[in-house]
Amino acid sequence: MGGFKDKVVFITGASSGIGAGLAKEFADRGASLVLTARRADRLQSLSEELKAGGGKALAVACDVTKDGDQEAAVEAALAEFGRIDVAVANAGFGVGGTVDSLGLEDFRRQFETNVYGVLRTFYATIEQLKKNRGTLVLMGSVSGHLSGPTTGPYAMSKYAVRAFAEALHGELEPSGVRTVLISPGFVESEIRKVDRKGKVHPDAKDAAPPWLVMSTKKAARQMVDGIEAGNRELVITAHGKLAVFLNNHFRPLISLAMRKSYKGRKKGR
Ligand SMILES: NC(=O)c1ccc[n+]([C@@H]2O[C@H](COP(=O)([O-])OP(=O)(O)OC[C@H]3O[C@@H](n4cnc5c(N)ncnc54)[C@H](OP(=O)(O)O)[C@@H]3O)[C@@H](O)[C@H]2O)c1
Repeated sequence: MGGFKDKVVFITGASSGIGAGLAKEFADRGASLVLTARRADRLQSLSEELKAGGGKALAVACDVTKDGDQEAAVEAALAEFGRIDVAVANAGFGVGGTVDSLGLEDFRRQFETNVYGVLRTFYATIEQLKKNRGTLVLMGSVSGHLSGPTTGPYAMSKYAVRAFAEALHGELEPSGVRTVLISPGFVESEIRKVDRKGKVHPDAKDAAPPWLVMSTKKAARQMVDGIEAGNRELVITAHGKLAVFLNNHFRPLISLAMRKSYKGRKKGR
């Protein structure tokens, strides 16, 4: 498949999970990759893997919470490849817990990465995207469609990403830039091993029921298929689609189910 031949794809959060999966999928379809995240060693080995497979890749260490990091990464990308056609604002993590067990700092930390990090990707890449009539991909979540007990900060951040996507659809259309919002359900990655401070616990158990978790490869294939097909919004995984549908059409029922399940969990503690 060569749907992205001669295209340059810039990805944040490419050192693991969905970001790394997307990098491999885009590379398989002919794209050159700009891989960014904080863990430079991981980016380097992914870059070498892509190059060994005949692809082109550049690894650039970058923290989406730091002003200027993504601009520097874009400069490095332009020096290497001369252009950016697709920017994927994917870096993110989850702060969970009841609101009264958390403080303002927890919400700030969540928004600094999941919301302001996405805005920084927008501002760093938009000039290139306009120049090349490119595509901006925003990684939302099913949690950007429904919120319930203990998911407050994460869901708030992903609702914000969805609102951002909806504003951009119309604003960017005249310049030929397409915005794609991706809302995944459970996908295999490290996200459920990262604590609310952003620290990874490699030996932690994935709390999602294994039968509901889609493989990274399958999810990445469906995402890039949707981007290539020109979609503006993608909900990934069957349970994700069902949850969004039920929430849109039967919100009181979903709300009741979430409240009951939370009460049950509290009692079981
Ligand atoms: N997997 C799921 O079930 C699921 C479902 C819905 C939505 N999502 C969304 O998918 C996106 C990717 O998550 P994932 O599931 O693939 O989790 P993951 O395996 O933990 O990957 C998260 C990525 O984000 C990067 N990142 C985190 N903080 C960063 C920062 N400050 N600066 C730069 N990079 C940062 C991490 O790299 P470094 O630590 O190396 O910086 C890593 O590459 C997130 O936006 C997440 O909310 C995931």
